[in-house]
Amino acid sequence: MEMLPLMLLFLLCFVPQLRACLQCDRTVRLMLEDYILSEPNVLKQIELQKITDQGLVGFRETSDQYKGVIDFTTLYRAKTEFLSEFDRFRKTTTGSTSEAIQIMEKGREILEKYLILFIPDGLCPNKCGLLVRRVMDCTSCLYKTYICPSPTGQQDCGEFPVNAEEGDQAVLDCFLPWHRLLLGKPEYHYSWAAGVPKIKKLEESDFRVLVVTDEASVVLNQLHVEEEGTYRCLLQNQTGTVFYKVTFLISVRALPTQTQKPVITFPPLHLDNTPLTMQSYDALLVPLISTVIAACLAASLGLAILLRVIRKDQKRKGKEEEDLMQSLL
Ligand SMILES: *[C@@H]1O[C@H](CO)[C@@H](O)[C@H](O)[C@H]1NC(C)=O
Repeated sequence: MEMLPLMLLFLLCFVPQLRACLQCDRTVRLMLEDYILSEPNVLKQIELQKITDQGLVGFRETSDQYKGVIDFTTLYRAKTEFLSEFDRFRKTTTGSTSEAIQIMEKGREILEKYLILFIPDGLCPNKCGLLVRRVMDCTSCLYKTYICPSPTGQQDCGEFPVNAEEGDQAVLDCFLPWHRLLLGKPEYHYSWAAGVPKIKKLEESDFRVLVVTDEASVVLNQLHVEEEGTYRCLLQNQTGTVFYKVTFLISVRALPTQTQKPVITFPPLHLDNTPLTMQSYDALLVPLISTVIAACLAASLGLAILLRVIRKDQKRKGKEEEDLMQSLL
């Protein structure tokens, strides 16, 4: 047990402090080690070690210029490009130290190229709303939580009017690509308050839950005039932190009665075009119902017979098997 603090101390002293994001990657570390060890001359090894260490300082300084963090995807891209450059370098190098310096500088440029793209656009893509995500700290090589506050200072990202007609379908979509980066498993909470939008100031108690879902969008089929109202989408986690909020103001226009969609009639209209009376409905219904009942009775009778035949067959087979077993014993 007393070994433990000693070992920790040992680890703390010998873990290189010069980490940068490319160096955080295991494949890159192994590749550099392998490169140094493949040099037969020990003095040359020491020299290469110095060059790669110096190169890593350059990586870290570059990371620091760009907030000192990177996400998994960007690190993966930078690493893949650096690995393939390094591969080519090892195949073509004449072993001169200036070439080693160059390839480390090349690595720094690759890292910078990806960070230039990632930091301004990729790190905090939320134009409105709160993003809490995971990124790698380029100094400690550990993942940490990174908070991108809403640039507008609030999670409420606006109102969208939706003008519909009775019978229309409305699709309410609350999705933005950065929602996928959110930590935890936030869900979309849809709720609504009935009534013509914007007529009165709505209180929290006016809203009724519509649905809570992983899906960002909901579909309202066959809108009725009574479904007119203020629809709200909140993206929030289990403890109620709201990351994103939008409101859809749905107004539904009633269709004028004369253009109302025709009601489908059953049974089909008579050829002589006289409207169906109650009596003619009855006249049609009685034979229809009797036919259906007769068909049902016949079907269940048939089913009962079939079941009995199957059961008999199974019994017979069981018996045969038993006999067979006994004769074998
Ligand atoms: C919800 O988000 C807040 C803010 O990031 C966080 O403090 C809290 O732990 C989260 N809750 C869950 C259940 O993830």
